[in-house]
Amino acid sequence: MSNRPIGIFDSGVGGLTVMREMIRQLPGEHFVYLGDTARVPYGNRGAETVCRYALNAASFLRDHRVKALVVACNTASAFALDALRDQLDIPVFGVIEPVARQAAEHTESSEIAVLGTRGTIRSGAYKHTLLNLRAGLDVHSIACPLLVPLAEEGWLEGNVTDEVLARYLTPIADTATDTVILGCTHYPILRNAIGEATERLPLATPALLDSASATTAAVAEQLGDAGLLRGDDSGVGTRTFCLTDLPERFAATAELFFGRPLDGECRHVNITDDPTSTTE
Ligand code: DGL
Repeated sequence: MSNRPIGIFDSGVGGLTVMREMIRQLPGEHFVYLGDTARVPYGNRGAETVCRYALNAASFLRDHRVKALVVACNTASAFALDALRDQLDIPVFGVIEPVARQAAEHTESSEIAVLGTRGTIRSGAYKHTLLNLRAGLDVHSIACPLLVPLAEEGWLEGNVTDEVLARYLTPIADTATDTVILGCTHYPILRNAIGEATERLPLATPALLDSASATTAAVAEQLGDAGLLRGDDSGVGTRTFCLTDLPERFAATAELFFGRPLDGECRHVNITDDPTSTTE
């Protein structure tokens, strides 16, 4: 069992920011990444649709005999984590709880901002998790639907990105927010622009936390305790990238999120029962 791969799933390329950290902390593990690039974005879709897509992805990865599933998408974690855990008999990790725990421990002012897709924010998943971890927190939840296309276009700086961020961050100007959760796996590549945008606000410079390292630490701890990690002397693991669509600029976009060219086999796959439904 320990020799099986870890499955990582996202609506598209954002989850590569999580996979990159997984590889850094767990280089001996085999990984199978699934990006549902044919149906991205999930962030503007309804709960039932996101849940159905996530179950399609999980069943594809289960067929690849993964030993654990990492839902490297905040929107799918917000809407589908319980359904995935009901469906699978392997450990299933979401990206919300680990970074929420880190934020709840980090904040001194008790004011936290969460940036996410419309779906993630509408679900209330971060607010609910944060308040369960620490009652009395003041949570500013901000939907930022334009950040995913900006990140995928590689507009990581410049006037347009700055203007968009300035508008999204207005609600936390003049607050005591000292911790900002980048609650979408696309956002870490915009970290510099988001940091600079917070510096232009009347606001003490906050910490920017993303899910990658906290989620990886949770995976490493739980799989390690269960004896499910490959041994230290097993050599470097393999990486396989499965995409439901391979658009023209895919390699360049993926490299932005992964930090280097994808170093493994790239496969175009169909994850739905009905092949005609992949483009719905
Ligand atoms: N990366 C996804 C997330 O973390 C958002 C992208 C999308 O809208 O599909 O929520």
